[in-house]
Amino acid sequence: AEISNGAKIFEANCASCHIGGGNILISQKTLKKEALSKYLENYNSDSIEAIIHQVQNGKNAMPAFKGKLSSEEILEVAAYVFQNAEQGW
Ligand code: HEM
Repeated sequence: AEISNGAKIFEANCASCHIGGGNILISQKTLKKEALSKYLENYNSDSIEAIIHQVQNGKNAMPAFKGKLSSEEILEVAAYVFQNAEQGW
């Protein structure tokens, strides 16, 4: 199958900390649906906005990607994370 742009952006920028949708620094704060619902502010399963916000601004030990990734790339990687959260990584 063709690998999406979101997947490539994730591999290059996120997988170092979030391989497989996990979190190597804070183990409970994964990218799985249950963890996003519990820990990510304003997360809901109808919108990728909360993921976009976290990627743009970072949080604690997670770096901000605003200025490093374009808004198009942030949209694509957020959509990729959202879809994988829904599908169970
Ligand atoms: C949390 C996405 C890159 C470290 C999160 C969360 C999301 C996310 C959606 C919220 C998860 C939750 O609260 O359960 C991404 C994406 C990345 C990326 C899409 C790439 C564009 C990174 C990198 C690091 C990192 C490179 C490590 C250097 C963390 C940490 C948290 C976190 C430590 C927990 C923050 C806290 O609440 O204290 N990430 N991340 N992330 N991420 Fe990332």
